[in-house]
Amino acid sequence: MTADSMAARLAADRARIDACLEALFDNRRAVAPRLDDAMRHGVLVGGKRLRPVLVYAAGRALGAEDAALDAPAMALELIHAYSLVHDDLPAMDDDDLRRGQPTVHRAFDEATAILAGDALQALAFEVLARESGLRLAPMVATLADAAGRGGMVAGQMMDLAAVGQDPDLAGLATIHDHKTGALIRAAVRLGGLVVAEENDARLAALERYAGAIGLAFQVHDDILDVTGDTATLGKASGADAARHKPTYPALLGLETAQAKACELVEAGVAALEPLGDAGVPLAELARYMIERDH
Ligand code: IPE
Ligand code: IPE
Ligand code: MG
Ligand code: MG
Ligand code: MG
Repeated sequence: MTADSMAARLAADRARIDACLEALFDNRRAVAPRLDDAMRHGVLVGGKRLRPVLVYAAGRALGAEDAALDAPAMALELIHAYSLVHDDLPAMDDDDLRRGQPTVHRAFDEATAILAGDALQALAFEVLARESGLRLAPMVATLADAAGRGGMVAGQMMDLAAVGQDPDLAGLATIHDHKTGALIRAAVRLGGLVVAEENDARLAALERYAGAIGLAFQVHDDILDVTGDTATLGKASGADAARHKPTYPALLGLETAQAKACELVEAGVAALEPLGDAGVPLAELARYMIERDH
């Protein structure tokens, strides 16, 4: 796949998920309009949509139709958006800027941001569950585990607890693997589960791919906090150092952290080998994930 066709595919997938998410809100009556406005602010404004893009790419690699991938793609982005709304709260990372806009608690207020996050999470499961014809039970179980006590929320707990504790490399990898890797693994797995049985060997290959790129993605996020500027990132740069967050560049230095991200991506790409040519778009996405500037 050429760089141009990869960029075109990314743009098309982003347009597709944006339209799905907008329709989701437009087709529902706002029971509490302020809550809906805060949810829209959290999910519809900006974002690279990488988790939905991974759902589409993983599903297509195994032969799924795009229409069957929309619900899991939306569910992943809704959970991710909720995680960001809560991550930015004063009790957590205390950030004012997200996706180039004021964070939800800044644009609204803290209680509204907490509630918007809660409702985004619930909406994710509703969207998935309303889609008939999907392999629902393993999908819901995968998403719930990845989002909650076995995944993202556990990682966020470890991330907060690690401030001032100087975790070693293995400890930091565990934090990143949960707070960020878990949802990336779930995106790839849900895409695969649209067509594959749980014991399909191709799902195991996808799992190895996703494990490696999930960690690489957060390593690169840590690097961008050092090398990026606030305007390009759409969120404050230098925030990790200011809050004494344990990060890969802080632990390894910038160059070694960059080398680690590349190594992980190449391990992820190697894991795609059993998929043959069908894995090429996933390989391109993996490389894009650590070349991005925001
Ligand atoms: C930011 O994720 C939070 C992390 C898990 C590193 P993204 O970099 O995917 O954020 P958006 O969705 O593009 O805003
Ligand atoms: C976020 O990690 C992980 C989440 C579960 C949201 P960060 O705290 O590093 O994400 P950013 O840098 O604020 O986007
Ligand atoms: Mg955080
Ligand atoms: Mg943060
Ligand atoms: Mg970060």
